[in-house]
Amino acid sequence: MSSAAEIVTDLVKHIDFDKRSLLISASAIAFNPTFWNIVARREYRTRFLSRAFGGAQTGCYALAITIFSLGLFRDFLYERALRDQPSHPLLEGEIPTYAGYALLALGNILVISSTWQLGITGTFLGDYFGILMDSMVTGFPFNITNAPMYYGSTMSFLGTALLYGKPAGILITGWVLVVYLVAIQFENPFTSGIYAKREKERAKAKGGKKEL
Ligand SMILES: *[C@@H]1O[C@H](CO)[C@@H](O)[C@H](O)[C@H]1NC(C)=O
Repeated sequence: MSSAAEIVTDLVKHIDFDKRSLLISASAIAFNPTFWNIVARREYRTRFLSRAFGGAQTGCYALAITIFSLGLFRDFLYERALRDQPSHPLLEGEIPTYAGYALLALGNILVISSTWQLGITGTFLGDYFGILMDSMVTGFPFNITNAPMYYGSTMSFLGTALLYGKPAGILITGWVLVVYLVAIQFENPFTSGIYAKREKERAKAKGGKKEL
């Protein structure tokens, strides 16, 4: 039996870096969070979407539909990239297939349950539109991870890679994780700031009433 390093080397040899679809898929993965962060911060500063769509709620729904569609397109490009790639025998047996289905199921449970908890505006950057949650959601899946959407999505990417039996899919999944970890670093302080501002205003309002 070969060592772990030899297995990894062999898996990497089964990635065709010359296929353009691989780069296109990686680009789409990086583009989406970049796009929604730029648009959402612009909305926060200028309210351009709320004005264009006649309200924060409709503006947020428009952004939600756009982000959702970009996600579908990104998934389409990922599957197309995988079809262009060689398979590896190690990833083609029954066990990787079952693991693939399990990851897809778990990933979807995380994504769907967090959408259920947050609602559409809570999921799709409503806080940037001034649509804030009343309180922090702490129920499942937020009691097991602080970013169920991102980790669930990453699990789905890995599950798909295993179902297709493609080492390139594992590499792309690593890229997905890097992109999401950067996004979390970028997004969390900003949304915390939005909520801290609300708390300050609430405290001020309370203090004002006491003075009366
Ligand atoms: C998270 O919440 C769910 C549903 O309330 C519960 O079944 C589960 O045990 C909780 N998990 C942890 C780690 O607290």
